[in-house]
Amino acid sequence: MADRYVVIGNPIAHSKSPQIHARFAQQTGEPVAYDRLLAPLDGFEATVRDFIAAGGRGANVTVPFKLEAFTLADRRSARAEAAGAVNTLSFEAGAVIGDNTDGVGLVRDIVLRAGVPLADARVLLLGAGGAARGVILPLLEEAPDEIVIANRTVARAEALIEQFAQPGSRLRAVQFDALAGAFDIVINATSASLSAELPPVPPSVFGAQTFAYDMMYGAGPTVFMQLAAAHGASVRDGLGMLVEQAAEAFFVWRGVLPDTAPVYQWLREQL
Ligand code: ATR
Repeated sequence: MADRYVVIGNPIAHSKSPQIHARFAQQTGEPVAYDRLLAPLDGFEATVRDFIAAGGRGANVTVPFKLEAFTLADRRSARAEAAGAVNTLSFEAGAVIGDNTDGVGLVRDIVLRAGVPLADARVLLLGAGGAARGVILPLLEEAPDEIVIANRTVARAEALIEQFAQPGSRLRAVQFDALAGAFDIVINATSASLSAELPPVPPSVFGAQTFAYDMMYGAGPTVFMQLAAAHGASVRDGLGMLVEQAAEAFFVWRGVLPDTAPVYQWLREQL
């Protein structure tokens, strides 16, 4: 009998997580069965409790339930606390443990798959919503030279600076129109690409040495990637982050880290 896991969201039909985890299970030989689970918008907790009662071992959590998952958890990892959101739940001996693997997924995709070092890099993070907050701690742990956060609503960027500022950490919030000069790494953590919009970032942040990363992905380059490439940057979408956050969740549950390369290749071919 396989151990049961699910991805819970609303909507959930589009989720690629079952295909990703099926490949991880096959590759590692772990006895994992992984399905989609649609929760009613007002029924996240009841859905989780029913799944636990039915013997479920863990769950990934996606839109719009990551904040509710944070509240539901009895205990949380430091990275989940920092993110203020939970995307991975483990059910152990009557307790619900909350974790967040999104940030480590981003960092591994940039450093390991793309081969771009974050250490000593000047990083520009666009956006100050949940997606941005979720990646700041893992980015800081790579010891970049600085992280500049630009957001349309600058007060949200300032709130993040206040949360993450530590002695010696070079973090600052700026208005989009105050940005000038190229960065080593520009990460789009706004939700603008969802509606094919662009954050109002001046093209001068991109140069020939810039690596531009969009957390979104699709069949072709996002509008953000097109803008960055037109100004000489090398570009990448967020498909690898999806695979890496899944691999880290698999590791949290099973203690085995899958090889993401063949799964990434397979997903890329499906787009
Ligand atoms: P998520 O969980 O995806 O981060 P969110 O918490 O709603 O979603 O945050 C969305 C982020 O994208 C915010 O930083 C938002 O900017 P504001 O805080 O100023 O609203 C940003 N965003 C969304 N659409 C945008 C656009 N068209 N241009 C610039 N920023 C945009």
